[in-house]
Amino acid sequence: MVGDLADSGALHPDWRAAFEAVPRHRFIPDTVWVEKEDRLTPVHRADGEQAWLELCYSNEAVITQVDDGVPAGPGQTGREITSSASRPDVVALMLAALEAEPGMSVLEIGTGTGWNAALLAERLGPGNVTSVEVDPVVADQARRALREAGHHVTVAVGDGAAGHPSSAPFDRLIATVAADRVPPAWAAQTRPGGRVLVPWATDFHNGALVAFTVDQDATMRGRIVGNVAFMRLRDQRGKRASLERNVHGVAQARRTFTDLHPYPVLGEYDASLAIGLKVPRCKLIVTHAEDGAYTVWLVDPWSGSWASLDHEPGAEKYPVRQSGERNLWQEVEDAYRWWDELDRPTADRWGLTVSPQDQYVWLDTKKNRINV
Ligand SMILES: C[S@@+](CC[C@H](N)C(=O)[O-])C[C@H]1O[C@@H](n2cnc3c(N)ncnc32)[C@H](O)[C@@H]1O
Repeated sequence: MVGDLADSGALHPDWRAAFEAVPRHRFIPDTVWVEKEDRLTPVHRADGEQAWLELCYSNEAVITQVDDGVPAGPGQTGREITSSASRPDVVALMLAALEAEPGMSVLEIGTGTGWNAALLAERLGPGNVTSVEVDPVVADQARRALREAGHHVTVAVGDGAAGHPSSAPFDRLIATVAADRVPPAWAAQTRPGGRVLVPWATDFHNGALVAFTVDQDATMRGRIVGNVAFMRLRDQRGKRASLERNVHGVAQARRTFTDLHPYPVLGEYDASLAIGLKVPRCKLIVTHAEDGAYTVWLVDPWSGSWASLDHEPGAEKYPVRQSGERNLWQEVEDAYRWWDELDRPTADRWGLTVSPQDQYVWLDTKKNRINV
């Protein structure tokens, strides 16, 4: 795995020794979960060491907890992923983007398995890593794995949005869990000039990696430096959208057509990132038919509004249905045209400022604040 990561360019040479010294499987619990036909199904190490090891050493996230530890699906299956060991190439890219050096102090938010914390401790040195995990059972497992592997890391149980004031200030902060509203405490607890790395997500788009630099005034400004998708901070999970629960009144829905093909709107990273800034509380679901046709659903689980767009191969116009107080497809189409008129900015042109008072987005320079 380490060789593959190095060959792919994801693993920075400075981090190679740490990856070689910290075997991932020592941090993965004996029961993990895989996605099978819309269900999360357990895989037990005791039922097949080889299959379990293959999961540990694939370049994939390994699901280590579902439904906050109490599987909520039928027959002991899970519905929601609530903890995982992140994909190794994402871990490697984020560690490189953190620009951490041996001797620096780091706060990690979202301990999960403890693997990332162990990699940090291996390179930065014992006692330099603090990690906060919201789930006490997950934190306990990570603590045990870290201890058994000989890494001296402080693992605290709590809401990582509050940081870890008693060990602040830190030189670096790395969140391995996504935020929509980035907690200002992360800036306040990082030294001026320090770097804060955050997976940033909207309801519509998950997500973008933002690398912030902290100023003297506990304000941080950053740009998008990567494309990563993480689970959300527990308090920011919001509501899950479901066609069964949220789509009602199909016969009464307002019907129109659009000639805007859904792919460039919803499937292109730069466009959907920008739409996510403009259209809050909107979740995307796509359902496929066997003949290559598909339906795009836009769902606002808070207000109950929904929209759908049916795409058939070769069609040039697409039927749209909208229901509820919002016209969700119209909002998305307007946001797409707004992005188009801005000259289709790529992700790296957006910036984010987080201050003790607020959070806002800018384009190209921090003077060019965008009202979203
Ligand atoms: C993707 S996993 C982290 C992966 C981890 N760094 C590793 O090396 O395995 C995200 C973790 O964030 C935790 N989490 C979610 N909300 C949190 C919060 N508010 N504070 C701290 N941890 C949180 C989840 O319980 C989960 O374990």
